[in-house]
Amino acid sequence: MTIEKEYTEGRTTFLSADVDHYSGDKKQPTTSLPVFYNPRMQLNRDLSVLFLTVYMDRHPVELMCEPLTGSGVRTLRYLNECPSDFYAIMCDTNPLAVDIAQRNVEALGFNNRAKVIHGDAKLLLMTESREKRFDFVDVDPFGTPTPYIYAAVQSMSPKGGLLAATATDMPVLCGVHPNIALRRYGGFSARTPFTHEIAVRLLNGFIYSIAGSNDCSIEPLAVVSTDHYVRTWVRIDNDRAEANQQAREMGTIVYCTGCMHSMVIPLLSKLLNVDFDHKREGCTGTLHLAGPLWIGALFQNQYLIDAINLLAKDESQTYHRRVSGILEKMLEESILTSRPYIDLHALCDLYNLTPPKTRIIIQGLKDQGFEVSRTHFKPTAIRTTASVNEVMQIILNYQMR
Ligand SMILES: C[S@@+](CC[C@H](N)C(=O)[O-])C[C@H]1O[C@@H](n2cnc3c(N)ncnc32)[C@H](O)[C@@H]1O
Ligand SMILES: [Zn+2]
Repeated sequence: MTIEKEYTEGRTTFLSADVDHYSGDKKQPTTSLPVFYNPRMQLNRDLSVLFLTVYMDRHPVELMCEPLTGSGVRTLRYLNECPSDFYAIMCDTNPLAVDIAQRNVEALGFNNRAKVIHGDAKLLLMTESREKRFDFVDVDPFGTPTPYIYAAVQSMSPKGGLLAATATDMPVLCGVHPNIALRRYGGFSARTPFTHEIAVRLLNGFIYSIAGSNDCSIEPLAVVSTDHYVRTWVRIDNDRAEANQQAREMGTIVYCTGCMHSMVIPLLSKLLNVDFDHKREGCTGTLHLAGPLWIGALFQNQYLIDAINLLAKDESQTYHRRVSGILEKMLEESILTSRPYIDLHALCDLYNLTPPKTRIIIQGLKDQGFEVSRTHFKPTAIRTTASVNEVMQIILNYQMR
């Protein structure tokens, strides 16, 4: 018999397998839990509740699906904490998860707003959407979401919908296994100081190509990279013409290990004619290539503004303490995503310098007229219109004072 425990996350109380009991000394939930629940993903689910709420202000959501639901906590939180009266279909292959999710639905009084199905995620997405297609699909698996994205896009309402997907296969996405990234996501990952940005761009690039092969365009609303995962929220629209136009949002990122210069090269620019511009500075460092991947915008800043306002009005005080800081940084960086972020610590390491405080470099860049922001990806990184050499100059000026 499964040892269960009652948990409360956000404003929602539910049962799952007792994580402490089954994790033992590891203190980390593993995939061998009888029913999977990871309390460390609260931040992910908090952001998901906020983004779904602000999405619902713009687009109707009547029917949603979480095809890999575990204890059901994610969908239970949507049902309980988002304002709209939508219906949810939840699914899992694990009969213990289905049983506990079903009891959670009943305990929270959502029998008339949710059903839990025992089965395979891909099959469910294709079959359950035959009657009425989904306005929102949330893919939150172990590891990579790629095997489920095709079925998720096909299950989406012809009027368009929201697709959210989490990926936890970080060694693949972050350049430890670039060949596996090519196989899974259609682009090479790379080990660079901005490797997590490459990770979210590979995920969005993959979603773009699957949406495109179904005559749909994508509109990335937000991405998050934290702890051991990345997640994206993407609006899918039935718009073949826009999908054609979006070919310009696919490209590669070339990075030099010698000078840390990076260059975003659209696939449409005919790669061979592009001269990597660190050569002007006399650098002959080794170049690494990531992609093809999504080089377009990562955030819709009005969504972020609305999520921040929603959080400010929240009286429950149940959101993770990091949510507000992450949203603020996302908003700051949302208008500066045409180039990868620069990690100041990695840059200082390259030149054997002690890194100054990030805010000091930000001020130095602002004083020189550059646009600059923090990034939620890394506390030691910035986004800026300045080149790495210009950032380096500011660091050197500061060190010489
Ligand atoms: C990471 S957990 C889900 C966590 C959940 N979304 C949450 O926020 O707590 C992944 C779940 O997918 C289930 N699963 C694995 N393969 C599946 C498949 N092919 N179809 C449906 N469920 C599957 C596992 O049993 C597990 O409960
Ligand atoms: Zn170089």
